[in-house]
This record gives sequence, structure tokens and C-alpha cells, in this order.
Amino acid sequence: MADTMRTLSRPVILGLESSCDETAAAIVTGDRTILAEAIATQEAEHAPYGGVVPEIAARAHSERLTPLVERVLTEANLTLSDMDAIAATAGPGLIGGVMVGLVTGKALSYAAQRPLIAVNHLEGHALSPRLADAALEFPYLLLLVSGGHTQLLAVEGVGRYRRLATTIDDAAGEAFDKTAKILGLGYPGGPAVERLAASGNPSAVPLPRPLAGSREPHFSFAGLKSAVLRAQNQDTPPAPADLAASFQQAACDCLVDRSRLALAAMPEARAFVVAGGVAANQTIRSALADLSAEHCLSLVAPPLSLCTDNAAMIAWAGVERFRRGDFDPLDTPARARWPLDPDATVARGAGYKA
Ligand code: KG4
Ligand code: ZN
Repeated sequence: MADTMRTLSRPVILGLESSCDETAAAIVTGDRTILAEAIATQEAEHAPYGGVVPEIAARAHSERLTPLVERVLTEANLTLSDMDAIAATAGPGLIGGVMVGLVTGKALSYAAQRPLIAVNHLEGHALSPRLADAALEFPYLLLLVSGGHTQLLAVEGVGRYRRLATTIDDAAGEAFDKTAKILGLGYPGGPAVERLAASGNPSAVPLPRPLAGSREPHFSFAGLKSAVLRAQNQDTPPAPADLAASFQQAACDCLVDRSRLALAAMPEARAFVVAGGVAANQTIRSALADLSAEHCLSLVAPPLSLCTDNAAMIAWAGVERFRRGDFDPLDTPARARWPLDPDATVARGAGYKA
């Protein structure tokens, strides 16, 4: 051990994340301490293309991940042999990037003779609120809203996830990114749309609320995105701030309407939790807080650094799995698709989402 005087709260887990456009490594302990974390974003590489290019992402992950692992070990003043296990994202995500992270995790696991924990990226998001909040108990309702996923999950325990809803076409973050592209705001679009929307009128442009009022709590955002495009292509398009604000309000209304249905279907929920990049949006956060209050629940929203893709959430999922002795063999495959709830049926009209 690098520092023999220290007593570490066990387990000590190294987590790796590389499923989309963030390369990240972190070391987390059993008492919820993030000993060190490092993240390298690829925004600049993908910005010229207006979205993530899988080949560019995989190459960037393979160049950056090992130096990030060295950095977190140095920062924590620990060595690989101080780790109790290595947790790496094994899917779902862009397969090239997932393979880089998982192969790195396997190599470190083999070299250090420590168990491998192959983490489902969605499980990382689902358990991340428990890293931030020691008081958060199961079961809770999770709204996971990111660039790749929009799901409502009943989180009943570690490894026990029931998918109540998913998107039948685009993810909410994707709709923000596409709206940003239509408005010429660049990538990533969510924060830019939110900034522009702040000076616009949310009821200026009539836009649809797809599936609002439907009895199944699924999501749909493709029709909303097309409506934004049609509004923009009119002879006299609306003011950009009004279109941004109207889109944001419509997306927010859809998330609230669908979540309301799921909350009614899960009366045993002890909290309503929101995670994923779109949870950074203040309009959406405050509308979800109001909805939670309606159900006498508190809204738990992890800090932004834990909401967007990061390795601390993967390491924390590793802590929770380690406690259950739940490890994976070194021939565990990387998976582009990997639904968290294996019993969830494919949503009608679904495109490609896990
Ligand atoms: O969770 P995340 O970092 O990555 C994954 O997709 O897994 O989420 C990124 C998504 C992007 O689509 C981005 O535009 C969106 O989250 N996003 C936002 C905001 N910040 C990030 N959407 C709306 N408002 C924001 N402030
Ligand atoms: Zn994610």
C-alpha cells in the first residue's frame, strides 16, 4: 500500500467509463468518498460533426483512459493493489468505446489479481443518487434522461430494476441536441437551448406534447423535433429564443406528464429521483420538484457532476455489487445494447433504445 498509515473504508473500487464521449476514471470507497476522479471530454473532437462520431470516440478513449487511471491512482496516493475490485462499464453504448473501457478493466483486474465488475452504464446512473445521498433508500422511482436514454425505472434494490417506460423514438437529450442544431447553436445542444430559452416566451410557438395523456407511460420526442423544424422552416420563423423556450416547455411538459403516471403506478416509492444530463436543466428540475411535492415525495437530483456521464457512478455501482459478492468473469462481453430490466418488452414503435 502506498500510504501505510491510512485506514481506508472498504471496499475501494476503481471505476472506468467510456461508453459515449466522456473518458473517465475514479476511485470510490465504501463510505461514499470519491478519493479521486478524472474526466476527459471529447466535445471539441465531435463538435464539427454536430454529434458523436463512434470511430473518433473509440480512438480518443484508447488514447486517454490509461493516463487517467494513472492520474487517479497518483491523486489518491494509492496503487492498483490497494483496489478491492475493478469496475468498468460493459454496455450499453457505442461498442468501440465500451470495448476500450472493458478491456482496460480486464487487464487491470488480471494484473492486480482483483475481481472484475462489469457494470451496466444504466445501473451506474440508477445507483448514483445513493452515492450522493446516504439516506436514499429503496425503492425509488428514477427518471433517467440523457442523450441516449429516456426511461422511468422502479429501482427496487441493487440488481432489481423494473422498467416502467422508455422512449419509442428519440431520447430527450437527443431532442435538445437536434433543436440546438436546427437553431444553429452547436453541440452539445442542451445547455445552449436552455440559455437561449431564458429570454424567450414558452407559449409563443404552439408545439405538440407527444403521448401526453396516453395510458402507458412511454415517451416520444421525434414528433416534437419535427414540429420545431417545421416552425423554423416557415416563411417567417419565430424568434429563436421563443422557439427554444417553447420547445423546452413542451419537452418539460412531456417529462412531467409521463412521470406523473409512473408515480401513480408506484405508490411504494420513497423518493422521486432524476439523473442523466438533461437533469441539469433548471426548468425541468423545478417542474419535477413540483410534481414530487404533489406526491409528498422529495425530488432527489444528484449534483451535476454525477448526473452526466462519469466514472464515480461506475465505481459506486462497483461498491454496491462488491458488497453482494457479485463479480464477473474475464470473458464477459462488451454489449452495445443491454436493457437493465431483462423482462421489459420492446416499446411499441421503439427505434433502437435499450
Ligand atoms: O448523461 P449525459 O451526459 O450523456 C449521455 O447521453 O449518457 O447526457 C447528455 C445529454 C445531451 O443530450 C445534452 O444536450 C443534455 O444531456 N443536456 C441538457 C442540459 N445539459 C445537458 N439538456 C437540457 N438542458 C441542459 N441544461
Ligand atoms: Zn449516461
